[in-house]
Amino acid sequence: MVSASPREQWASKFGFVMAAVGSAVGLGNMWRFSYLTAEHGGAAFVILYLAMMLFVGLPVLLAELVLGRGAGRSPVQALGHFGGNAWKPLGLLFVASGFVILAYYSVIAGWTVRYTIEAALDSFGSDPAGHFGEISEGPQAIVWHLIFMAVTSAIVARGIKGGIELTTTVAMPLLFLVVCGLAVYAATLDKAGPGYTYYLQTDFNDVFSREVLSEAAGQAFFSLSLGMGAMLTYASYLSKDQHLPNESVMIAAADFAVAFIAGLVVFPLLFALGLSSEVSESTVGALFITLPGAFGRMGATGQIIGTLFFATLVVGALTSAISLLEVVVASAMDTLQWSRHKSAVVFGGIIALCGLPAAVDIDVLGAMDEVANNIFLLGGGLALAVFVGWVMPDPIGEVQTGAPGVRWFFLWRTLLRFVVPAVLLYILVDAVPRTVATLAGLFR
Ligand code: TRP
Repeated sequence: MVSASPREQWASKFGFVMAAVGSAVGLGNMWRFSYLTAEHGGAAFVILYLAMMLFVGLPVLLAELVLGRGAGRSPVQALGHFGGNAWKPLGLLFVASGFVILAYYSVIAGWTVRYTIEAALDSFGSDPAGHFGEISEGPQAIVWHLIFMAVTSAIVARGIKGGIELTTTVAMPLLFLVVCGLAVYAATLDKAGPGYTYYLQTDFNDVFSREVLSEAAGQAFFSLSLGMGAMLTYASYLSKDQHLPNESVMIAAADFAVAFIAGLVVFPLLFALGLSSEVSESTVGALFITLPGAFGRMGATGQIIGTLFFATLVVGALTSAISLLEVVVASAMDTLQWSRHKSAVVFGGIIALCGLPAAVDIDVLGAMDEVANNIFLLGGGLALAVFVGWVMPDPIGEVQTGAPGVRWFFLWRTLLRFVVPAVLLYILVDAVPRTVATLAGLFR
């Protein structure tokens, strides 16, 4: 089928890499990464996570780029193009994942917008836990969620070059600088030492359970935006001369660097105020209760640092949300032949509505997060690995286009064919029943 206008493209290689890094770097790096690390043995978890990124995340990332650029279409069409109609439902699953993830992700992002403003005004108050309870559910949460979705839709509506690429090429370098600056500031705190010790201790006792393995893999997928066609969709706007292996390594390295440096910010701050015991109490606790409490007690410095900290989260969340919406919008453009503008407005609106239950009840939000990660992303990643490893006609030829002379295809394909599916199956067998139990609990 010939579409009326030629397909959009990134203006530059740097633009694509920044957009992909923008997708990867988000709440996952600053929120999930630190609480998972705190919960599971500090640096031991970081090492496990790194291994998961290298052997599971990176091969799947390259697979998504290869599939996206090879087909030059949105996920549903890309899978149909190389695999026939039988594979199209997988593309629909990706779109569904986009709905679910963006719906609750935007609610959390909405909290961070509100917190940025409150940090700037120094208005957290003296009861951060009570405050979080008030703003995380109900009308307050709904308003900021809707505002965040409106901004996300507006950027996506402006297109690849003028919306997504422009936003991310400005935002990502800035974000990186600010995170580094915050880490330098954190190093000057009195109790930075114990914070680092807590973060970088290596307690391997806890790491080799199935649950921790699955958390590490799930986090690698979530943080790299894998398993639902986000990277695939971005790669579909690439030209043939890009060096995909190099780019996937750059994206993964930047994503890991931001997560690691964010840890160097979060842990010293928590310890400086003697709040270490509260670090891993709850998944949202450290970021949305303990840290605001800390900023509140630091006076004017807390105002500045707090504002920068939460603004960083907002920017990271925004550039990630854009990529989630782009999967849905690109699919609507390709399959329904809608204009970009209409797709972004209509589907942005529907996803905003889907987020309302999460904005009203934090348990719904938690359940959506669990279903998305444990079932959609890991299942989607498994299917993608099988597809590119076994079904797609000539994935290696597609990698070689633009990357002549790369030698480790064999390793990549072996990981994709055997290692990735084995690891993901092992994890899914355990994660699916756990998630079903959570869902059952929710409806009881
Ligand atoms: N990677 C982002 C983060 O770390 C979240 C995200 C964006 C995402 N797009 C995605 C997660 C696609 C899974 C799939 O916050």
